[in-house]
This record gives sequence, C-alpha cells and structure tokens, in this order.
Amino acid sequence: MSTGQFISRCTADAMTLAAAAIAQGHLVAFPTETVYGLGANATQESAVAKIYAAKGRPADHPLIVHIASMDEIGYWADEISEYAIALARNFWPGPMTLICQRSEVAKDFITGGQETVGIRVPDHVVALALLEAAKEIGVLGIAAPSANRFGHVSPTTAQAVREELDQYLSSDDMILDGGPSQVGVESTIIDCTGSNPHILRPGAITQAMIEEVTGLKVTDAQNEIRISGSLENHYAPEATVVLDTTPQSGDGYIAMSDKPTPAGVIRLASPQSVEEYARILYASLRDGDSQKINRICIDQPQGDGLAIAICDRLQRAARGR
Ligand code: TXA
Ligand code: MG
Repeated sequence: MSTGQFISRCTADAMTLAAAAIAQGHLVAFPTETVYGLGANATQESAVAKIYAAKGRPADHPLIVHIASMDEIGYWADEISEYAIALARNFWPGPMTLICQRSEVAKDFITGGQETVGIRVPDHVVALALLEAAKEIGVLGIAAPSANRFGHVSPTTAQAVREELDQYLSSDDMILDGGPSQVGVESTIIDCTGSNPHILRPGAITQAMIEEVTGLKVTDAQNEIRISGSLENHYAPEATVVLDTTPQSGDGYIAMSDKPTPAGVIRLASPQSVEEYARILYASLRDGDSQKINRICIDQPQGDGLAIAICDRLQRAARGR
C-alpha cells in the first residue's frame, strides 16, 4: 500500500490544502531545518494518535509542539522563565526546543502525561507557511516528531520520509517536499523549568550560545524528565555502526574529507566541516542501508559545539537498534 500524497511544489494553494488536512485531523509530513517532521493538530487527540500509529511509537512519549512564532508560546506554556524568553527571542525561528511548564491547552496526549511541554518555532519557509496557514484556520500548534519509524534514523529529505512512512499513511495524509534539511540533526532541547537551563538533547544551538544569551550557566543536573531521544536504541540504521575504527574492505566509511579511504572501503561521506557533517550524516547512513552494507565505520568529529550533537547521535547509532 502506497498512499500519502506527495507534494513537491509547495505553492500557496498546496499550503492551504495541507493546513486544511491538519485542521481536519490528517497527518502532514513537512520539512524543517533540522529534520522532517510528521505533523498533526496538537489539540486533537485522534489526530495525534495517528502520529503514534504511523511511527510505531509508544504512546507515553511526549511530542514537540511547533508554532508559527514566539507570540504563541503563551497558548502552550505557563510561567515561562525569563531566560526561556531570551532564548526564544534570539534563536527562534531555529533549531531549538524549549521545555516549559504546560498550560491547560497541552494535554496528556502531547506531554506524555508530564507537566511540561516542548515547543519550537522551526526555521524553514515551508514549515512556517504551513504553521501560518494552519493558524489562520484555528490550529494552535502542530505536534511533530521526526518523520521516521520509531528508533530509526530521522529523515532529512521528503524521499526519505516516503521510504520510512508511506505505507503507514492514508490517502488524506500528505508529504511536503521542501528540499534537504539544512542543519541535519534534531533541535537542541533545553529544559527551561529550573533556575538554570539544562540541555536534554544537544543540537545546533550549543551550550556556549545558550550561556551567552541567557547569562546563565547551563547545568548538568539530572532531572526526572523522560525523553525518548535519550533511549539507547535511537537514530540507528540497519547496518552495524562502529566508531573510530579502521574500516576493512566492504565496510562503509564516514569521516572528514582529510581522511583517506582504504582499499575496498565504500566511502559514504567526506564532509569538509562539522556543519556539512551534520547536514549529510543521516542521508549517508540511509545510503549505506540502501547499498546493503553490513558495517559502517564512522570517525567522530572533533571539537565542541555542533560536534557534540553529532557525537551524541553517533554513539546512539553505534549501540544499534
Ligand atoms: O528537530 C526536531 O526537534 C524535530 C523536528 C521535526 O522539529 N523533531 C524531533 O521530534 O526530533 P522527536 O519527537 O523525534 O524528538 C523530540 C524529543 C523526544 O525525545 C521527546 O521525548 C522530547 O523531545 N520531548 C518532547 N516533549 C518533551 C517534554 N515535555 N519533556 C521532555 N522531553 C520532551
Ligand atoms: Mg525522533
């Protein structure tokens, strides 16, 4: 069964249709600057249930609510801390999710029963056009996890979404094609409920950026927040991933461009910067799977900032599915 409507030209008419689909309780996969999301009306329980069904994701895992601008944060969150506002002002639209005290609009089926809600304004013209069009017809936010089956590698192209999910979508659902995601790893998730910000998932908004804008130290205080992204079996391709090992003939290999490719090794990516590394990583892992490579050797990038986010995902991928 192959059913979701694939929209490659995201015209104003297409956005109106997609927003109507969201308002009517259907699913719309859409591009963001991090990865593609699988969206549903965040106030409609039956619509959100379709996300869990399509992803094969356990129903007690919280979802990020995407909004068109920071003006709408007040619908979803209560008692928003001052530093959370500063982060929103500086980094939205952008690759950052803020965890705040939920308002009564954020129901258990969004928060996984927790008292907090994750909120993000994505930085992608198609995502923002969809969010705006949906807002105009009364949708307060679009819940959207990454548009992959649970535990798999996040999709960074519409084609990858189709390969992951098409058989789980219905003919009323849509996949919007907005080209390859430019950041390539999921948003930084920041718990803003404590006196200091705390990073739950590293991403392109780095600790140094957060500290600079808030004037506060990022704490590494462990807290009780459950986060499916911190489960071990996430972000994994079919292939076995091994880190920082010399590849053997027949292995796939991902490393910075200054590393040579040993004889017989299948080079999957040679990024020249950490930004490029993040952008092409997931597509390279998918490429390895489509070539039926059994083992992919990956050299972790050096440094802090975005390299930390990449290493976080690589270490999870190396633990396998
Ligand atoms: O870049 C991204 O964040 C992408 C794009 C589509 O926006 N979305 C994404 O969603 O990565 P997802 O569901 O694949 O990962 C979101 C993570 C999950 O691990 C979830 O547990 C966590 O965010 N999360 C959501 N709400 C939360 C909350 N209230 N408290 C703690 N963690 C939360
Ligand atoms: Mg995900």
